[in-house]
Amino acid sequence: MIQVKDLRYRYKKGGPEVLQGIHFSIAKGEIFGFLGPSGAGKSTAQKILYKILEGYSGNIMINGKDLREWGKEYHEMIGVGFELPNHYLKLTGKENLEFFGSFYKSGSRYNIKELFEKVGLEHAMNEPVENYSKGMKMRLNFIRAIQHDPEILFFDEPTSGLDPINARTIKELIKELRCKGKTIFITTHHMETADQLCDQVAFIANGRLMATDPPSKFKEAHGMPMVRARTQNGDTREFPLEHIGQNREFLHFIQGNPITSLKTQEATLEEVFISITGETLRP
Ligand SMILES: Nc1ncnc2c1ncn2[C@@H]1O[C@H](COP(=O)(O)OP(=O)(O)O)[C@@H](O)[C@H]1O
Ligand SMILES: [Mg+2]
Repeated sequence: MIQVKDLRYRYKKGGPEVLQGIHFSIAKGEIFGFLGPSGAGKSTAQKILYKILEGYSGNIMINGKDLREWGKEYHEMIGVGFELPNHYLKLTGKENLEFFGSFYKSGSRYNIKELFEKVGLEHAMNEPVENYSKGMKMRLNFIRAIQHDPEILFFDEPTSGLDPINARTIKELIKELRCKGKTIFITTHHMETADQLCDQVAFIANGRLMATDPPSKFKEAHGMPMVRARTQNGDTREFPLEHIGQNREFLHFIQGNPITSLKTQEATLEEVFISITGETLRP
């Protein structure tokens, strides 16, 4: 359980406040996401939570204890997937994992080969990391974060630099972690990642949280309650969703034409983001 109240942060005294009073809470077994463009303050907030940045103001409680009071044992409890993977390039993937695993009292709680298999890297586990592509390094980064089976996980842009298939693998693994009851905090500027993964999404822009809700709630609240029907020859017609079953015009249209698609006009999370924050998600 993570509770953050009025979190504020400046990198330099007298510098701009890059987090301007942020509130949120993350329940156990929940995937919580920060969605926002580059420079919004997502990584800064995460770095504070994993105790790399100090000197914040506000209050952060982790499992009922003030973050400032947590000692070394905190790092046993959390797993961090950094935004920019920092591996030892001359060492193999396996050696990297063993080296970083040696920092934990419990070491790695998984079988190392199984971890590599989870992310489709088993063929490369004995290769030096300097031969890895960016996507392979990201996948190694992911298993590094989960290897000691921590209770709380932070993933900073977990799907960035991955092709759609590998991005899906990572998303599925994050969902598996949720099933195991982990508390998960991700940041992303990809609206699909936020939409597909998160139980709660917080929109962040310019160091402020503008709104927090489940993705489905955002989309319903901002969508048009219309159904769009498209025919084989490309004609489209829109009908109000309300009482659609009794709408004679609609029924006549779908009975009398070869329909190729029928969709509700739900807003995308990106459209909602733009409408609420006035910012785009493009980096
Ligand atoms: N080490 C740093 N020193 C000074 N300013 C920084 C530093 N890191 C990030 N910033 C600034 O803080 C703001 C938020 O950055 P960041 O948290 O990295 O955003 P995001 O992860 O959403 O892209 C940006 O304006 C960025 O330029
Ligand atoms: Mg970032």
